[in-house]
Amino acid sequence: MRNILITGGAGFIGSHVVRLFVNKYPNYNIINLDKLTYAGNLANLKDIENKPNYKFIKADICDFDTILKVFKENKIDGVIHLAAESHVDRSIKDPFTFANTNVMGTLSLLQAAKECWQEDFSNKLFYHISTDEVYGALELTNPKGGNEPGGGPFGNEFFTEETKYNPHSPYSAAKASSDHFVRAFHDTYGMPTLVTNCSNNYGPYQFPEKLIPLFVNNIRHKKPLPVYGKGENVRDWLYVEDHARAIDIIFHKGKIGDTYNIGGFNEWKNIDIVKLLIKTTDKLLGRKEGEDDNLITYVTDRKGHDLRYAIDSTKLKRELGWQPSLQFEQGIEKTVQWYLDNQQWMENVTSGDYQKYYDDMYKNR
Ligand code: NAD
Ligand code: TYD
Repeated sequence: MRNILITGGAGFIGSHVVRLFVNKYPNYNIINLDKLTYAGNLANLKDIENKPNYKFIKADICDFDTILKVFKENKIDGVIHLAAESHVDRSIKDPFTFANTNVMGTLSLLQAAKECWQEDFSNKLFYHISTDEVYGALELTNPKGGNEPGGGPFGNEFFTEETKYNPHSPYSAAKASSDHFVRAFHDTYGMPTLVTNCSNNYGPYQFPEKLIPLFVNNIRHKKPLPVYGKGENVRDWLYVEDHARAIDIIFHKGKIGDTYNIGGFNEWKNIDIVKLLIKTTDKLLGRKEGEDDNLITYVTDRKGHDLRYAIDSTKLKRELGWQPSLQFEQGIEKTVQWYLDNQQWMENVTSGDYQKYYDDMYKNR
């Protein structure tokens, strides 16, 4: 496959996937299609924007006619679909946008792929990126101890590829629906598809409405850290470059029609992450240990807040040999350092200046 459409490539995970593919596969044409919503930022890709095998197209995945044109004009034979509305809190306020982008946008891409490929699917692939949140929430139970399948630190149950979908938030309901559409296109038309469900990602270029970049920025500016509820909720965290690496392996070697879970066997309670973030940020800023502990502010819980997510990624390790490369403490230090070093990026994405960046950069192309 040579002409790969990556949707949502100007977002957090998408930018890491685009960078990896553009650098690693000079003989692939990488077409990054992104609407540049508030979460999309071309500054995330500054280092590769002039590479000959990279092209950016500003478009909305819901705009079927444009998407079909993009498929035909660029002879797309592979899709890695990441474009989505991705923030749970926003989905609670505005579920329609989530249904529209995540469900109708995915359907529009699938239909365009089907029409363009005219149901000749040889050497074609539609790879859909999804989340562990579609599986619902796990209990916090008495731990067996150890951070492995069969006994995590916060419970013995894990999400596997066989776990029944049970989404709770409008975000995860919309993602679940899009996963079903992808599988329906495989089962109905024989489209070669792949679906992966990954746990929470962290790392550089994440929009600072999500826990980790938001809190690093707040600590830097000595602003309150709004911990939802009691901070007891558990998430399973994976460094974003490990996710991008998994996507690369699965795109090339995954079994068509299959699903893979991606996760780090790395469960943390929110409050413990917040403490680690304070400790790491203070250390890197040369502040006294404990100086910013008082920024922790318990606030009203998120509505329908899922208690625990924990992914069992044994299948991916067993079948395709992938495993996470970074310890969480290492990854967090690297990440905090990146946000501290890239204050201008932080200010740009929060001020809307990236829109001007886009206009200046691309008005003549
Ligand atoms: P993000 O919000 O950082 O980026 C989303 C990107 O999609 C942005 O660049 C945005 O401009 C683009 N986009 C949004 N609506 C669009 C539309 N209608 N047309 C074209 N482009 C549009 O999201 P992210 O955290 O990078 O997540 C990427 C994907 O990975 C999503 O599908 C998400 O569900 C999934 N995922 C995320 C995580 C996580 O922890 N962030 C974990 C598992 C799976
Ligand atoms: P988030 O980064 O929004 O990811 P997700 O909801 O997809 O897991 O949140 C991670 C966890 O942190 C989640 O349990 C909600 C919690 N959280 C807070 O306690 N305070 C905050 O300000 C944010 C943004 C999240």
